[in-house]
Amino acid sequence: MPAVVLIGAQWGDEGKGKATDLLGSRVDYVVKFNGGNNAGHTVVIGDKKYALHLLPSGILSDGVVPVIANGVVVDIEVLFNELDALSARGVDVSRLLVSANAHVITHYHRTIDKVTERFLGKRQIGTTGRGIGPTYADKINRVGIRVQDIFDEGILRQKVEGALDQKNHLLLKVYNRRAISPEEIVDDLLSYADRLRPMVADTSLVLNRALDEGQTVLFEGGQATMLDVDHGTYPFVTSSNATSGGAATGSGVAPNRFDRVIAVVKAYTTRVGAGPFPTELHDESGEWLRGRGFEFGTTTGRPRRTGWYDAPIARYSARINGVTDFVLTKLDVLTGLERIPVAVAYDVDGMRVDEVPVSQSDFHHAKPIYEELPGWSEDISGAREFDDLPRAARDYVLALEEMSGSRFSAIGVGPARDEIVVRHDLLD
Ligand code: GDP
Ligand code: IMO
Ligand code: MG
Repeated sequence: MPAVVLIGAQWGDEGKGKATDLLGSRVDYVVKFNGGNNAGHTVVIGDKKYALHLLPSGILSDGVVPVIANGVVVDIEVLFNELDALSARGVDVSRLLVSANAHVITHYHRTIDKVTERFLGKRQIGTTGRGIGPTYADKINRVGIRVQDIFDEGILRQKVEGALDQKNHLLLKVYNRRAISPEEIVDDLLSYADRLRPMVADTSLVLNRALDEGQTVLFEGGQATMLDVDHGTYPFVTSSNATSGGAATGSGVAPNRFDRVIAVVKAYTTRVGAGPFPTELHDESGEWLRGRGFEFGTTTGRPRRTGWYDAPIARYSARINGVTDFVLTKLDVLTGLERIPVAVAYDVDGMRVDEVPVSQSDFHHAKPIYEELPGWSEDISGAREFDDLPRAARDYVLALEEMSGSRFSAIGVGPARDEIVVRHDLLD
């Protein structure tokens, strides 16, 4: 089973970090292929808790080669800080590879991210403010700075000057901010060159060779399907392809090499930032889920919006990503509920709709049609086999599996590494 993609099925924070960690010891490479330090993955190993943003979660597994591929946007200062923090805790980070083609987040991207959000006022997206959108915009506009540019001072200067020419007009005249000096940016980027150089590689070549030799490569998505720039709730999305297709374009590994697509899905739903969310709860049940599930952002600390499981979204994810296996997480959070509502379809202006509507306006109006499933009260965190779960918890999983369009191969029953029930081997 050489090439495996792991992505989020909802709006992020499904527990992708933990799922990657679960597979970590059995894979040779873990590749981040989209997004940047907007991601926040919490991984709990024994009594240690790690929060990863830019680095793939696989960096925590001994012997794995972590790769930041071409589809990622890299804030180099953040990269070095994260590496230093992990090193200080005894994690070996020496094998990290960074694509020469990855784009670089600079000071002006972060500034523009924040000022555009402020300018949008009530229409703001609620970005993480890390410069993600503006960096991808420059990539598409062909005025981006790539990792390889840092090693050619003449080119770097030319590109930064070109990019700032237009941006400084915008900053000064539209946003009423001070202009940014190209010198300042160039000097900053050049100061990273010596430390960065040994990590930089043709990561597409490295990964394809590894696959040729029969090694196992895990492609770890940041964000999630409903935040994907093409398939998510646009414009309330991130600026990259967080779906499985992004693993190919974001790494230079062709689609016909992928063997399996694992989607991580929470037993309920959360969302950070603005945008439609049909099953969102504004009552004490929502508060209860937030408190029980510790639903506060790993990156920004913002309280996450919470709601019930949405089966049309899981089905949509199964379709868009070609999901072969779901990992259901945080089932333990639901313990203690008498009845658990699950959205099976939507009511859109009086019509029953079974799939995620293609029209954003319809999705904004969609009211969930719920089915209520019986809950359980037993502590399930010690379950390791499916049969260890109480009957109602098993039935909840089976009902969700039936509605969601692919098999549920593993079930999270707690944050720790071993708090998981595996029904089907994810790499076999
Ligand atoms: P990611 O962005 O998809 O990697 O997810 P986050 O790390 O942002 O959020 C998931 C949170 O849930 C983390 O704090 C995990 O430690 C925690 N978690 C993951 N799986 C489980 C589970 O099965 N049960 C519980 N209670 N917590 C879990
Ligand atoms: P992980 O990998 C949840 C959201 C932001 C905002 C929108 C755009 O931990 O699941 P951006 O800064 O990317 O331009 O913000 O996307 N967002 C996430 N929400 N989990 C994430 O990552 C997210 N990364 C971005 O809150 O609504
Ligand atoms: Mg997260």
